[in-house]
Amino acid sequence: MKIVAFNGSPHGAAGNTHVMVENFLAGARKAGAETENILLVDKKIRHCSGCMACWFKTPGKCVVQDDMEELLEKYSADIVVFATPLYVDNVTGIMKNFMDRILPRLEPFIEKDENGECKHPWRTGHSPDFVVISNCGFTGMEHFQVLKLLFRRIARNTGSRILAEIYRDGGGILASPMLILKPFLMHYNKLLRKAGGELVTDGRISDGTQAKLEKPIIPPEQYIKIGNKNVTEELQKLEKEK
Ligand SMILES: Cc1cc2nc3c(=O)[nH]c(=O)nc-3n(C[C@H](O)[C@H](O)[C@H](O)COP(=O)(O)O)c2cc1C
Repeated sequence: MKIVAFNGSPHGAAGNTHVMVENFLAGARKAGAETENILLVDKKIRHCSGCMACWFKTPGKCVVQDDMEELLEKYSADIVVFATPLYVDNVTGIMKNFMDRILPRLEPFIEKDENGECKHPWRTGHSPDFVVISNCGFTGMEHFQVLKLLFRRIARNTGSRILAEIYRDGGGILASPMLILKPFLMHYNKLLRKAGGELVTDGRISDGTQAKLEKPIIPPEQYIKIGNKNVTEELQKLEKEK
Protein backbone atom coordinates (compact mmCIF):
# COMPACT_ATOMS: atom_id res chain seq x y z
CA MET A 1 0.00 0.00 0.00
CA LYS A 2 1.34 3.41 -0.99
CA ILE A 3 0.37 6.50 1.02
CA VAL A 4 1.38 9.95 -0.20
CA ALA A 5 0.86 13.01 1.99
CA PHE A 6 0.53 16.50 0.52
CA ASN A 7 1.10 19.15 3.17
CA GLY A 8 -0.14 22.64 2.30
CA SER A 9 1.37 24.53 5.24
CA PRO A 10 3.61 27.50 4.38
CA HIS A 11 5.68 26.49 7.42
CA GLY A 12 6.66 23.19 5.79
CA ALA A 13 8.84 20.99 7.98
CA ALA A 14 8.82 23.57 10.80
CA GLY A 15 5.03 23.56 11.09
CA ASN A 16 2.45 21.99 13.37
CA THR A 17 0.82 20.11 10.49
CA HIS A 18 4.15 18.45 9.72
CA VAL A 19 4.28 16.98 13.24
CA MET A 20 0.89 15.35 12.65
CA VAL A 21 1.80 14.01 9.21
CA GLU A 22 5.21 12.68 10.24
CA ASN A 23 3.81 10.72 13.18
CA PHE A 24 0.83 9.40 11.24
CA LEU A 25 3.07 8.21 8.40
CA ALA A 26 5.58 6.68 10.83
CA GLY A 27 2.77 4.52 12.23
CA ALA A 28 1.65 3.58 8.72
CA ARG A 29 5.19 2.63 7.73
CA LYS A 30 5.62 0.46 10.80
CA ALA A 31 2.45 -1.38 9.76
CA GLY A 32 3.93 -2.06 6.31
CA ALA A 33 2.91 0.86 4.11
CA GLU A 34 5.19 2.68 1.74
CA THR A 35 4.91 6.39 2.48
CA GLU A 36 5.97 9.73 1.07
CA ASN A 37 5.59 13.15 2.66
CA ILE A 38 5.47 16.05 0.23
CA LEU A 39 5.75 19.65 1.40
CA LEU A 40 3.85 21.63 -1.22
CA VAL A 41 5.53 24.86 -0.10
CA ASP A 42 8.78 23.56 -1.63
CA LYS A 43 7.09 22.93 -4.98
CA LYS A 44 6.34 25.28 -7.82
CA ILE A 45 2.57 25.14 -8.27
CA ARG A 46 1.01 27.94 -10.30
CA HIS A 47 -2.68 28.56 -9.91
CA CYS A 48 -5.10 27.05 -12.43
CA SER A 49 -5.80 29.58 -15.18
CA GLY A 50 -9.08 27.91 -16.13
CA CYS A 51 -7.97 27.61 -19.79
CA MET A 52 -9.47 24.09 -19.97
CA ALA A 53 -6.63 22.91 -22.23
CA CYS A 54 -6.36 19.82 -19.97
CA TRP A 55 -9.85 18.87 -21.14
CA PHE A 56 -9.72 19.76 -24.83
CA LYS A 57 -6.39 20.76 -26.41
CA THR A 58 -4.15 18.37 -24.44
CA PRO A 59 -6.59 15.95 -22.75
CA GLY A 60 -5.35 14.82 -19.33
CA LYS A 61 -2.36 17.16 -19.37
CA CYS A 62 -1.98 20.68 -18.05
CA VAL A 63 -0.22 23.16 -20.34
CA VAL A 64 1.46 24.90 -17.40
CA GLN A 65 4.94 23.50 -16.92
CA ASP A 66 5.77 23.37 -13.24
CA ASP A 67 6.03 20.74 -10.48
CA MET A 68 2.38 19.76 -10.78
CA GLU A 69 3.10 17.16 -13.46
CA GLU A 70 5.31 15.21 -11.02
CA LEU A 71 2.76 15.72 -8.21
CA LEU A 72 -0.09 14.36 -10.31
CA GLU A 73 1.96 11.19 -10.85
CA LYS A 74 2.26 10.87 -7.07
CA TYR A 75 -1.48 11.49 -6.73
CA SER A 76 -2.06 8.00 -8.14
CA ALA A 77 -1.12 6.39 -4.79
CA ASP A 78 -3.60 4.07 -3.02
CA ILE A 79 -4.21 6.72 -0.36
CA VAL A 80 -3.54 10.45 -0.49
CA VAL A 81 -3.34 12.52 2.68
CA PHE A 82 -4.56 16.09 2.39
CA ALA A 83 -2.73 17.85 5.22
CA THR A 84 -3.35 21.53 5.84
CA PRO A 85 -3.50 24.00 8.67
CA LEU A 86 -6.83 25.81 8.92
CA TYR A 87 -6.64 29.20 7.20
CA VAL A 88 -9.74 31.39 7.48
CA ASP A 89 -11.80 28.28 8.26
CA ASN A 90 -10.51 26.61 5.08
CA VAL A 91 -7.46 25.01 3.45
CA THR A 92 -4.40 27.20 2.77
CA GLY A 93 -3.93 28.93 -0.58
CA ILE A 94 -1.06 26.54 -1.32
CA MET A 95 -3.37 23.57 -0.86
CA LYS A 96 -6.17 25.17 -2.86
CA ASN A 97 -3.86 25.75 -5.84
CA PHE A 98 -2.82 22.10 -5.64
CA MET A 99 -6.45 20.94 -5.45
CA ASP A 100 -7.51 23.04 -8.46
CA ARG A 101 -4.67 21.61 -10.51
CA ILE A 102 -6.03 18.06 -10.11
CA LEU A 103 -8.53 18.96 -12.87
CA PRO A 104 -6.60 17.12 -15.65
CA ARG A 105 -7.47 13.88 -13.86
CA LEU A 106 -11.17 14.46 -14.61
CA GLU A 107 -13.02 14.04 -17.91
CA PRO A 108 -15.05 16.99 -19.24
CA PHE A 109 -18.24 14.90 -19.61
CA ILE A 110 -20.96 15.25 -17.00
CA GLU A 111 -22.56 12.23 -15.34
CA LYS A 112 -24.90 11.75 -12.41
CA ASP A 113 -23.86 10.06 -9.18
CA GLU A 114 -26.07 7.63 -7.23
CA ASN A 115 -27.86 10.60 -5.60
CA GLY A 116 -28.58 12.25 -8.93
CA GLU A 117 -25.90 14.92 -8.43
CA CYS A 118 -23.66 16.00 -11.31
CA LYS A 119 -20.00 15.00 -11.42
CA HIS A 120 -17.18 14.52 -13.90
CA PRO A 121 -15.83 10.97 -14.41
CA TRP A 122 -12.32 10.18 -13.16
CA ARG A 123 -10.10 9.97 -16.23
CA THR A 124 -7.88 6.91 -15.73
CA GLY A 125 -7.22 4.18 -13.21
CA HIS A 126 -8.56 4.50 -9.70
CA SER A 127 -9.15 7.70 -7.78
CA PRO A 128 -7.19 7.42 -4.53
CA ASP A 129 -8.83 7.19 -1.12
CA PHE A 130 -8.47 10.17 1.20
CA VAL A 131 -7.10 10.85 4.65
CA VAL A 132 -7.55 14.42 5.92
CA ILE A 133 -5.21 15.89 8.51
CA SER A 134 -5.57 19.42 9.83
CA ASN A 135 -4.85 21.57 12.84
CA CYS A 136 -5.96 25.03 13.85
CA GLY A 137 -4.96 27.76 16.29
CA PHE A 138 -8.27 28.07 18.14
CA THR A 139 -9.65 25.53 20.58
CA GLY A 140 -12.94 23.80 19.68
CA MET A 141 -13.69 21.17 17.04
CA GLU A 142 -16.42 23.39 15.50
CA HIS A 143 -13.68 25.24 13.60
CA PHE A 144 -13.35 22.26 11.26
CA GLN A 145 -16.98 22.39 10.05
CA VAL A 146 -16.07 23.85 6.66
CA LEU A 147 -13.15 21.46 6.11
CA LYS A 148 -15.27 18.41 6.94
CA LEU A 149 -17.92 19.41 4.40
CA LEU A 150 -15.32 20.47 1.82
CA PHE A 151 -13.57 17.11 1.78
CA ARG A 152 -16.88 15.25 1.68
CA ARG A 153 -17.76 17.21 -1.45
CA ILE A 154 -14.35 16.70 -3.05
CA ALA A 155 -14.43 12.97 -2.35
CA ARG A 156 -17.87 12.86 -3.99
CA ASN A 157 -16.56 14.76 -7.01
CA THR A 158 -13.65 12.40 -7.54
CA GLY A 159 -15.37 9.17 -6.45
CA SER A 160 -12.97 8.73 -3.55
CA ARG A 161 -13.60 7.35 -0.09
CA ILE A 162 -12.59 9.26 3.03
CA LEU A 163 -10.87 6.64 5.17
CA ALA A 164 -9.89 8.88 8.07
CA GLU A 165 -10.01 12.46 9.28
CA ILE A 166 -7.76 13.79 12.02
CA TYR A 167 -8.56 17.31 13.15
CA ARG A 168 -6.51 18.91 15.93
CA ASP A 169 -7.91 22.03 17.58
CA GLY A 170 -5.48 23.92 19.80
CA GLY A 171 -2.77 22.83 17.37
CA GLY A 172 -0.53 25.86 17.87
CA ILE A 173 1.56 23.95 20.40
CA LEU A 174 2.31 20.85 18.29
CA ALA A 175 5.79 21.97 17.21
CA SER A 176 6.49 23.82 20.46
CA PRO A 177 9.84 23.18 22.18
CA MET A 178 8.40 24.12 25.64
CA LEU A 179 9.57 21.43 28.05
CA ILE A 180 6.38 21.60 30.10
CA LEU A 181 4.41 20.46 27.03
CA LYS A 182 6.71 17.56 26.13
CA PRO A 183 4.87 14.68 27.88
CA PHE A 184 1.50 15.84 26.53
CA LEU A 185 2.83 16.14 22.98
CA MET A 186 4.56 12.77 23.20
CA HIS A 187 1.26 11.19 24.19
CA TYR A 188 -0.55 12.83 21.27
CA ASN A 189 2.17 11.88 18.76
CA LYS A 190 1.94 8.28 19.94
CA LEU A 191 -1.80 8.33 19.23
CA LEU A 192 -1.10 9.65 15.73
CA ARG A 193 1.30 6.79 15.09
CA LYS A 194 -1.31 4.34 16.38
CA ALA A 195 -3.88 5.86 14.00
CA GLY A 196 -1.47 5.46 11.06
CA GLY A 197 -0.93 1.83 11.97
CA GLU A 198 -4.64 1.13 12.34
CA LEU A 199 -5.40 2.67 8.97
CA VAL A 200 -2.98 0.28 7.27
CA THR A 201 -4.02 -2.82 9.20
CA ASP A 202 -7.78 -2.26 9.48
CA GLY A 203 -8.53 0.32 6.78
CA ARG A 204 -9.79 2.75 9.42
CA ILE A 205 -8.96 4.40 12.71
CA SER A 206 -10.67 2.62 15.61
CA ASP A 207 -13.38 4.50 17.51
CA GLY A 208 -11.24 4.36 20.65
CA THR A 209 -8.19 5.95 19.00
CA GLN A 210 -10.35 8.52 17.22
CA ALA A 211 -11.99 9.56 20.50
CA LYS A 212 -8.59 9.92 22.18
CA LEU A 213 -7.23 11.93 19.24
CA GLU A 214 -10.07 14.42 19.67
CA LYS A 215 -9.43 15.05 23.36
CA PRO A 216 -7.62 18.35 24.09
CA ILE A 217 -3.84 17.91 24.43
CA ILE A 218 -3.92 20.29 27.39
CA PRO A 219 -7.01 21.97 28.93
CA PRO A 220 -8.29 24.70 26.55
CA GLU A 221 -8.04 27.40 29.27
CA GLN A 222 -4.38 26.56 29.78
CA TYR A 223 -3.78 26.58 25.99
CA ILE A 224 -5.31 30.05 25.68
CA LYS A 225 -3.30 31.28 28.67
CA ILE A 226 0.00 30.01 27.19
CA GLY A 227 -0.90 31.47 23.76
CA ASN A 228 -1.77 34.89 25.13
CA LYS A 229 1.35 34.95 27.32
CA ASN A 230 3.50 34.19 24.25
CA VAL A 231 1.76 36.97 22.30
CA THR A 232 2.37 39.48 25.12
CA GLU A 233 6.03 38.51 25.42
CA GLU A 234 6.55 38.72 21.65
CA LEU A 235 4.98 42.19 21.48
CA GLN A 236 7.06 43.39 24.46
CA LYS A 237 10.22 42.09 22.79
CA LEU A 238 9.41 43.99 19.60
CA GLU A 239 8.63 47.14 21.62
CA LYS A 240 12.06 46.94 23.31
CA GLU A 241 13.81 46.52 19.93
CA LYS A 242 12.27 49.76 18.61
C1 LIG B 1 -3.72 33.48 7.45
C2 LIG B 1 -4.05 32.59 8.62
C3 LIG B 1 -5.36 32.24 8.83
C4 LIG B 1 -5.70 31.40 9.92
N1 LIG B 1 -7.01 31.07 10.13
C5 LIG B 1 -7.35 30.34 11.20
C6 LIG B 1 -8.72 30.04 11.45
O1 LIG B 1 -9.62 30.39 10.70
N2 LIG B 1 -9.02 29.33 12.58
C7 LIG B 1 -8.05 28.88 13.43
O2 LIG B 1 -8.37 28.27 14.43
N3 LIG B 1 -6.73 29.10 13.18
C8 LIG B 1 -6.36 29.83 12.10
N4 LIG B 1 -5.03 30.09 11.83
C9 LIG B 1 -3.99 29.48 12.69
C10 LIG B 1 -3.33 28.22 12.08
O3 LIG B 1 -4.30 27.27 11.69
C11 LIG B 1 -2.39 27.60 13.13
O4 LIG B 1 -1.40 28.54 13.47
C12 LIG B 1 -1.75 26.31 12.70
O5 LIG B 1 -1.18 25.70 13.84
C13 LIG B 1 -0.64 26.49 11.65
O6 LIG B 1 -0.14 25.23 11.26
P1 LIG B 1 1.31 25.07 10.56
O7 LIG B 1 2.33 25.39 11.61
O8 LIG B 1 1.38 23.69 10.08
O9 LIG B 1 1.34 26.07 9.43
C14 LIG B 1 -4.68 30.91 10.78
C15 LIG B 1 -3.33 31.29 10.52
C16 LIG B 1 -3.03 32.11 9.47
C17 LIG B 1 -1.58 32.51 9.22
